[in-house]
Amino acid sequence: SSVSVATSDNNGSFIDTLKMNVYNDSDYGYPLIVPSSGLQLRTRVYVEVKAVNLTGNFHVLMDHCFGTPTSYNASHTEQHNFFTGCSVDQRATINTNGNSKFARFDFEAFRFVQHREQTKSSIYLHCILRLCEPTKCEELLN
Ligand SMILES: *[C@@H]1O[C@H](CO)[C@@H](O)[C@H](O)[C@H]1NC(C)=O
Ligand SMILES: *[C@@H]1O[C@H](CO)[C@@H](O)[C@H](O)[C@H]1NC(C)=O
Ligand SMILES: *[C@@H]1O[C@H](CO)[C@@H](O)[C@H](O)[C@H]1NC(C)=O
Ligand SMILES: *[C@@H]1O[C@H](CO)[C@@H](O)[C@H](O)[C@H]1NC(C)=O
Repeated sequence: SSVSVATSDNNGSFIDTLKMNVYNDSDYGYPLIVPSSGLQLRTRVYVEVKAVNLTGNFHVLMDHCFGTPTSYNASHTEQHNFFTGCSVDQRATINTNGNSKFARFDFEAFRFVQHREQTKSSIYLHCILRLCEPTKCEELLN
């Protein structure tokens, strides 16, 4: 909203600025380490998206987070929505959103139907989000 977002990195890309990490606990204290045998179904996975090294004071507001069975490309449409706005999947929970430099949600590990023949399968996580000034984020949440 009427301000510029800049990164303190030299080339202006957001590649090093937004980070997504997964944890195994609700305190977001331990990085999730996936054993070689894979995660048990329904294991809770805690996801954090964080903004670092921005020049201004912006909060992270997740609009839509989803999982796909392969790395995302526009022609690939199968996806599982964790949430879109206020509509949250029953197996997912939004924990922190729009009120700090990080946003957090969690979900239960699941399998895509198309992977049913495989002993384990991958889930790629994606989030569409905004960086907003704290007061603007608050407005958007109301
Ligand atoms: C900008 O920097 C990032 C991280 O160093 C790099 O991955 C990316 O390719 C760079 N982009 C351009 C357009 O140079
Ligand atoms: C999370 O990982 C840590 C370190 O590997 C481990 O000690 C802890 O028991 C794990 N917590 C859960 C809930 O699995
Ligand atoms: C933030 O920027 C500083 C200086 O460019 C760099 O040393 C530091 O690693 C960056 N922090 C993160 C979390 O990327
Ligand atoms: C994109 O997804 C389609 C459909 O699954 C797949 O056939 C294609 O190989 C994918 N393209 C890339 C670049 O991964």
